[in-house]
Amino acid sequence: MIRYTLNGVQTAYSGDESQSLLSHLRNDLNITTLKDGCSGQGTCGACTVEINGKARLACRTKMKSIENDEVNTIEGLPEQFKTVISKAFAERGSVQCGFCSPGMIMRAKSLYNTNTKPSRDEIFKAISPNICRCTGYVKIVDAIEEAFAILRDEQPKKYEKSATIGGRYPKYQSEETALGFRDFVDDMRFEGMLHGALKFSEHPRARVIKINTTKAEKLPGVERVFTAKDIPGEQFQGLIFQDWPLMIGENEITRYIGDVLAGVVAETDAIAREALGLINVEYEVLEAVTDMHEAAKPESPQVHEGRSNVLETCAINFGDVDKAFEEAAYTSTGIYETQRIEHAFLETETGIAKPENDGIRLYTQGQGAYVDRKLVAKILGIEEEKVIAVQVQNGGGFGGKEDLTVQGHVSMYAYLLQKPVKVHLTREESMRMHPKRHPVWMNIGLACDKNGKFTGVKLDAIGDTGAYASVGTKVMERVVGHATGGYTVPSVDIKAVTAYTNNIPCGAMRGFGVPQVIFAIESCIDDICKQGGFDRWQIRYDNALEDGAKTATGQKLQGVGLKKTLEAVKDEFQKARFAGIATGIKNTGVGNGMIDDSEVKIEIKAKDHIVVNHGWTEMGQGVHTMAIQTLHSETGINPEHIEVKVETDAGVPTGMTTSSRATALVANAIIDASKHITNDLKGSTMEALVGRTYKGKYVCDFTCAPGDDVEDPKIHFAYGYATQVVILDDNGKVDKVIAAHDAGKIMNRTLFEGQIEGAVHMGLGYALTEDFPLKDGYPLSYKYNDIGILRAKEMPKVDVIGIEEEDPIGPYGAKGIGEIGLCPTAGAVANALYTFDGIRRTKLPMQRKKS
Ligand code: FES
Ligand code: FES
Repeated sequence: MIRYTLNGVQTAYSGDESQSLLSHLRNDLNITTLKDGCSGQGTCGACTVEINGKARLACRTKMKSIENDEVNTIEGLPEQFKTVISKAFAERGSVQCGFCSPGMIMRAKSLYNTNTKPSRDEIFKAISPNICRCTGYVKIVDAIEEAFAILRDEQPKKYEKSATIGGRYPKYQSEETALGFRDFVDDMRFEGMLHGALKFSEHPRARVIKINTTKAEKLPGVERVFTAKDIPGEQFQGLIFQDWPLMIGENEITRYIGDVLAGVVAETDAIAREALGLINVEYEVLEAVTDMHEAAKPESPQVHEGRSNVLETCAINFGDVDKAFEEAAYTSTGIYETQRIEHAFLETETGIAKPENDGIRLYTQGQGAYVDRKLVAKILGIEEEKVIAVQVQNGGGFGGKEDLTVQGHVSMYAYLLQKPVKVHLTREESMRMHPKRHPVWMNIGLACDKNGKFTGVKLDAIGDTGAYASVGTKVMERVVGHATGGYTVPSVDIKAVTAYTNNIPCGAMRGFGVPQVIFAIESCIDDICKQGGFDRWQIRYDNALEDGAKTATGQKLQGVGLKKTLEAVKDEFQKARFAGIATGIKNTGVGNGMIDDSEVKIEIKAKDHIVVNHGWTEMGQGVHTMAIQTLHSETGINPEHIEVKVETDAGVPTGMTTSSRATALVANAIIDASKHITNDLKGSTMEALVGRTYKGKYVCDFTCAPGDDVEDPKIHFAYGYATQVVILDDNGKVDKVIAAHDAGKIMNRTLFEGQIEGAVHMGLGYALTEDFPLKDGYPLSYKYNDIGILRAKEMPKVDVIGIEEEDPIGPYGAKGIGEIGLCPTAGAVANALYTFDGIRRTKLPMQRKKS
């Protein structure tokens, strides 16, 4: 018997002494304020608790080690501390997805126990054991500093809260999220809920001869073992190409190590995982194709039998590019390579499904509830309406939760068993299964005349899309569409190949192909400056896109604030000793001939309860807050009275939350619905409107694909623009990043800054330290600590400058800002390092940490 004090209450434990404190608190005692971000690896800090006044990782603490200890979770902290710090986290914008927040607050408490007036540097250092993938840590430090000042009875800094568009307004449900009281999917519990686990392929490419499940089925506590034979509907699904099987069956060939061969459902997660080890699979191991260049050759083994490994070749040509290069005063050509990147969202994939009527209710943390519904219905072989997908605000997505992972499996289990089931991926399984950011190989050339005017761009690129298409073709199309960066170039010859391999798939990730190609073209620009003696700021300014200019795809632009972003950084860039500069452009919306649309349904439930139903995923970026601020600004409805819901039975279908488009689309749809509400409110009251429902819609159906034969092509409905400057200290270390971003209209200044700071953090990791290398189709490491995410103490200063050059289509002139924050970063870092040591770096990452 182990006796300890939990949140001030004497407690006794008589279970397995080697169980972790995290498992005991979350699974036995149902205390879910502490989160599980790395499955016991001890690297993320989401499980931080206080033991005898010090911060400790619950996942690394065995029950046998806490005899007579005083353990506190968030629940055990003093009320005043909780109230003050959660409010500070909400007001200062420290909560994006919020999955890291309770752990950060526990870490802050332990700092406060010994130092009530720490410096900012001391705070950065104190929270460094904990990872935040969203914020870049800046606003977390702001909030801790603010909260400690209030606890010391000092005057809080002025905070003018305003829900009107353009104001600072706390993120929806951010106070309860900060403390861990808002449930993520893994925090949800249902009566009689079973637990599922997935059996993955051991080989990237192998014929599955036999899957023997007999022993697993006999393990006490196992409810059922599933294989591909059990799939009631369609085996294959996918966001664009239906090439991804839910499970691989006997006599079929695997395509990567994340292919699922079987699934176990059992009374507990531990039993389900034990049973996985009892499933015996016989394979005929085949040669795996893991090099994208080899894969693209016609003689390569085929990843998908009967299909070429070249999934798509996207090309654009205009002007006489050969002549441009022949007549150029200066040219820069080179091969640039970028790496595979793991999204590393702190919340790993989890789904819960339960039977409902003759279908299922699915709790999903995916990036598109309506798309999940469609794909799951096909797997189950039932009508879409019989699947109700409830989108639960997730713990980070960054594009990595667009494809189905666990949603299909958990839905099938619940549907066939007629019982609630949860499937939760461990950190290792998450890294193994979901698509990554594409590694891209680029042979690029830039030509310019004697005055430094760009005259031509050539690009030959190939991207490794891995085992399944996901949205890989669209990513490589963005490489093509953004190859000229933020500049006017009169002739181009650009080609990008999307290649299947037996590697882990690559799909959407924040930036979507753009950071890769911007790194290459911005490096070429500095090379040309060196050759021709051009000023690095001026050449960018002279060639920058402006109103009426055309992109690489021929789209004529309006509302271009790029030159203003350059002007905003000019002085600091020019006076810095070692500095790099790069600009960026990033599309808003999927476009390319596909429809971008949004519907909303606004229900007046009571005079002080208004429900906004939409279809977009809240994953930290703030789309729910944007919805509230828009409705408030349009109608005057009290923002505190607005609830936001994403459930498919509301019947407001939308696509994936992707391409920085959700804010623009949902706000335009709310503006549409608000016209009717405002009209009905004339001479009336909210009370009189109770029971009414208002619908709104926005559809963008006027885009076309790159290369389509149309006179005035519109590839995307809007673009965002940016310039970033990276300044190094005298030791060549990044000291400061200045990020000037044209957001069109800054809808919420706090959230805008947070998006950019977080993206800069991710962009610096991309430039310097992050990687997810594979060898022969297998990751070199599954450790969260080994993928190179920058810790708080490694973050430089970040200055965010907002520019507002109105977009003609975006609500209030707004442009998407979710992704562009990391598009120029790697190019600016490469150019800064070149000024320091004269070495031109052509491969990312540039300073990989040794693990
Ligand atoms: Fe304990 Fe990540 S869950 S450190
Ligand atoms: Fe920190 Fe999302 S807010 S991980």
